[in-house]
Amino acid sequence: MLLGSSGNSAGIGQGRGPGAATTPEERVRDRLKSVSGKKTLVTGAASGIGRATALAAARLGAELVLTDIDAAGLAGTVESIERAGGKVLAERTLDITDYDAVTAFAEDVHDRHGSLDVVMNIAGVSAWGTVEHLEHRHWRQMVDVNLMGPIHVIENFVPPMTRAGRGGALVNVSSAAGLLALPWHAAYSASKFGLRGVSEVLRFDLARHGITVHLVVPGAVNTHLVQTVEIAGVDREDPRVQRWVRRFQERAAPPEHVADLILRGIERNRFMIHTSFEVRFGYWVSRKFALPYEFAMRKANDRFYYGLGDGRRR
Ligand SMILES: NC(=O)c1ccc[n+]([C@@H]2O[C@H](COP(=O)([O-])OP(=O)(O)OC[C@H]3O[C@@H](n4cnc5c(N)ncnc54)[C@H](O)[C@@H]3O)[C@@H](O)[C@H]2O)c1
Repeated sequence: MLLGSSGNSAGIGQGRGPGAATTPEERVRDRLKSVSGKKTLVTGAASGIGRATALAAARLGAELVLTDIDAAGLAGTVESIERAGGKVLAERTLDITDYDAVTAFAEDVHDRHGSLDVVMNIAGVSAWGTVEHLEHRHWRQMVDVNLMGPIHVIENFVPPMTRAGRGGALVNVSSAAGLLALPWHAAYSASKFGLRGVSEVLRFDLARHGITVHLVVPGAVNTHLVQTVEIAGVDREDPRVQRWVRRFQERAAPPEHVADLILRGIERNRFMIHTSFEVRFGYWVSRKFALPYEFAMRKANDRFYYGLGDGRRR
């Protein structure tokens, strides 16, 4: 087994019976190297990283439990998986901000299939803006979808995993904006730093149950989110914004690449799963070199302010 310095201290159980009396050390030794044959929940499965991860996990032999708010997109993912010979145990269109809907889904899944092995919180939305332009609904939506959504999933799906005693994995997709002070990301970062905090604590709380926790911190990924990100106070049709979106897309990783990194991160027991060199490097600089980090963030902020914002230079 590969265990790096950023590795977790426990992992996906090796199919032991419920309540098997194993120590955390034994679970480290026994951890699985693949999601193969594992009951795996993916939120946000209709599109982008969630869809790509569901398809990749299905190819590895995972048995999938899928959900998204987008019914048509979710049906498309289910069809693609089944056409390729993969297995979908359950699917449900729901809004992860709705605690009761998540609870009802979890009860159905547990009644029919028992506790899960892998839970992946991937669904999310994005809105940026300066504090003058962000409206209350933006702040509320970021926290409701990106932070409370994963919490609803964790509350409903993780305790049955700890009781089952088979170990498992919890994957939370945060963002570069969960590590760094990116310009205009205050509302989005409120949710993504929050999810990072939840993950850092659960990493240690869940280790005794043999459940590994993985925090995914993507940089730019070429998904639907790039088109749907709301930039408060900025006209998306503005040619400067369109130019910025094109530049972002040119540097963005394909979601399939990110999906492979997530699955490899579980396999190699990485706590933090990076998907781009820039973010890994930026985070390293932020921790080791406070002044250069501050300088770079001020520069980045000026670029936004003068490029897109009220202080634009014509
Ligand atoms: N694309 C990027 O550049 C990027 C960068 C960093 C982090 N992320 C994160 O990656 C994750 C996946 O995003 P993506 O880029 O694949 O975007 P995407 O828009 O392609 O996929 C997000 C999915 O989440 C679903 N969703 C949104 N709100 C929901 C809700 N209330 N309930 C249930 N499902 C809901 C959407 O319907 C969609 O299918 C998000 O958490 C996002 O914040 C993306």
